[in-house]
Amino acid sequence: MEDITVLKREALNQIDRCQDLPALEECRVEYLSKKGKIQGLMSKMKDLPKEEKPKFGQVVNELKSEVTQALENKKKALAEAELEQRLKREKLDITLDAYTPVYGTMHPLNLVVEAIEDCFIGLGYQVAEGPEVELDYYNFEKANTPKGHPARDMQDSFYIDPTTLLRTHTTSIQMRVLEEAHGQMPIKLICPGKVYRRDNDDATHSHQFMQSEGLVVGENITLSDLKGTLQFLVDSLFGKGQKIRFRPSYFPFTEPSVEVDMSCHICHGKGCPTCKGTGWIEILGSGMVHPNVLKMAGIDPLKYSGFAFGVGIERIAMLKYGIKDIRDLYTNDKRFLASFKRFD
Ligand code: DAH
Repeated sequence: MEDITVLKREALNQIDRCQDLPALEECRVEYLSKKGKIQGLMSKMKDLPKEEKPKFGQVVNELKSEVTQALENKKKALAEAELEQRLKREKLDITLDAYTPVYGTMHPLNLVVEAIEDCFIGLGYQVAEGPEVELDYYNFEKANTPKGHPARDMQDSFYIDPTTLLRTHTTSIQMRVLEEAHGQMPIKLICPGKVYRRDNDDATHSHQFMQSEGLVVGENITLSDLKGTLQFLVDSLFGKGQKIRFRPSYFPFTEPSVEVDMSCHICHGKGCPTCKGTGWIEILGSGMVHPNVLKMAGIDPLKYSGFAFGVGIERIAMLKYGIKDIRDLYTNDKRFLASFKRFD
């Protein structure tokens, strides 16, 4: 009995001192396995007098279950301690600033294109595209500007070969669309895109810039339709309140041709540096589609008429956002580009 008490104390102490699960497993093997110390006690039973055997057996069994229980408890305690340690180790500091991705912004030129598209799509226009590397045929010939025509000098061009050039205006898309319509009326579209001219770059000129063409052809289309449409465009881009006016001009592909001014959106016509004191700002060129252009596209100019216009996207962006140097639009400075908001 004394042996049992000693063994019990020894086992419980040893279990208590275990620092981890492997040590605890060693303990279990030492005391509870088939060749363990408790089983060893059992083998002593055969030397005992018969009447003491049941009592001895009972006490050893109690010892066995007490040690088993102690091992269980210790195992639980060790597992809990380990979990706690792990939680401490793996703790997330949710107060730490998260990584914020850098969001891109829309380029101001695309904001203008988007605003123009919104305006005209709402009026039932289609948006057309065309190649930037263009045939002389569509860029000039079909636009009533044959070889040797003095108006070709208005737009110094980048020729790739004698018949191919970088388009100098989006009017080339207009000519393609007129041809592709095969006389199907009405035609209502805008064509935004890049254009190229042999210009020296400075604050107001660039060898590459953007335009959008507008074109409507159908029955009874008049100059006043053009004026109403452009008034709507100006209202959409700059807000209601700007007047527009037509000045006679010349383009080979329109007759009559007009240059369109809008009353200055900064001083509302009083005169300021933006409008150079005149109260007016030139915004685009337009006119009634020349009968020759219609004829060349197989459209009967006696039956149909149309208006067209070409607006400079950079010009609108610079006016709208107060940008002084056109080159700022091409240098891709993210701080600059992030400062523009969508049109209302
Ligand atoms: N293509 C002209 C230019 O780049 C702009 C223009 C004027 C386009 C009159 C037109 C138009 O469609 O009718 O200067």
